[in-house]
Amino acid sequence: MLAAYVEEFHPDEPLRGLVVGDRPEPEPQPGWQVLPVVAAGLNHHDLWSLRGVGLTREQLPMILGCDAVAEHPELGEVVVHPVITGTPGWEGDPTLDPRRSLLSERHQGTLAEWVLVPEGGWVSRPEHLDAVEAAALSTSWLTAYRMLFTQAQVRPGQTVLVQGAGGGVATALIQLGAAAGLTVWVTSRSEDKRSRALELGAADSFETGERLPARVDAVLESVGAATWTHSINALRPGGTVVICGATSGDAPEKAELTKIFFKQLRVQGSTMGTREELGALCRFVSREGLRPAVDQVYTLADTGQALERMQQGDAVGQLGIQVRSGASRG
Ligand SMILES: NC(=O)c1ccc[n+]([C@@H]2O[C@H](COP(=O)([O-])OP(=O)(O)OC[C@H]3O[C@@H](n4cnc5c(N)ncnc54)[C@H](OP(=O)(O)O)[C@@H]3O)[C@@H](O)[C@H]2O)c1
Repeated sequence: MLAAYVEEFHPDEPLRGLVVGDRPEPEPQPGWQVLPVVAAGLNHHDLWSLRGVGLTREQLPMILGCDAVAEHPELGEVVVHPVITGTPGWEGDPTLDPRRSLLSERHQGTLAEWVLVPEGGWVSRPEHLDAVEAAALSTSWLTAYRMLFTQAQVRPGQTVLVQGAGGGVATALIQLGAAAGLTVWVTSRSEDKRSRALELGAADSFETGERLPARVDAVLESVGAATWTHSINALRPGGTVVICGATSGDAPEKAELTKIFFKQLRVQGSTMGTREELGALCRFVSREGLRPAVDQVYTLADTGQALERMQQGDAVGQLGIQVRSGASRG
């Protein structure tokens, strides 16, 4: 089958280690199901994998991709939940299993014609979305949902700051936050992305690092070192910063420990979400008629071009991969 996979690691030039070529179809296994992939999508995670973050050489070749809409023989198109538990008999929140992984970490990923998924590791996809839009729910939107509603625990009427405007997680935070009645402020290095953010539902947008007109109740961080001090300064006393990533690096110039204790801030990490959260996300998206912002759609054969666009950092929203033509209901 055709697949996009990591053949070798290149920390500085990640695309050099990408191959789009033939890989064996997954073998059926007890407790798992082989499903045909209809659409997939890219996440920054795929670039980290090509750089060698979270994988070892012994695991290569590894098919990339966490997001998928796949065709289930009885249920029709489903959104795949890419969090896989690793501890035998683990019960409860799978994101807290110390041995959990995402598809494309220990098990082959979704950027392929077929994917092996644990039995039940999916939810029905929202009817009003096409398959590429729905695939964005697997990772970026699930992560954003948990950050806002499980971790930050913000309420309608409160104000949140999203650092970065164009990324998959950032656009999901803007769209979900606005739909939930939050005042969403965003920062971006690019004027174009700042105006796109306003179209997506942000109430106001600022240059990266710009002083804000007021303190916010929560900051949603995925940028890391480049915005950390600004995030801490932006919070009201008792506010919460939820961090899910560190695209610009994980060693900020200042940890801001004094401000954190003096202002009694809460620093909360967040990773992906549960299948129940994915189900609740799909119901919310359906009820509100939300459509994940899609930047561009590529074929599986053109995954390299899509990854190049992600690396350049120009995209606003999801970089979608149409794997096969499904029963698109969009
Ligand atoms: N923990 C989890 O479960 C989880 C899940 C998903 C993603 N993540 C992580 O979250 C991060 C974002 O993921 P993504 O897929 O949304 O990535 P992405 O689509 O590549 O987004 C990158 C974003 O980062 C901002 N950015 C990058 N470098 C920056 C810099 N030097 N200064 C300021 N802003 C910068 C960009 O903002 P502007 O260009 O608008 O300034 C853009 O919005 C990644 O590190 C990823 O690994 C974690």
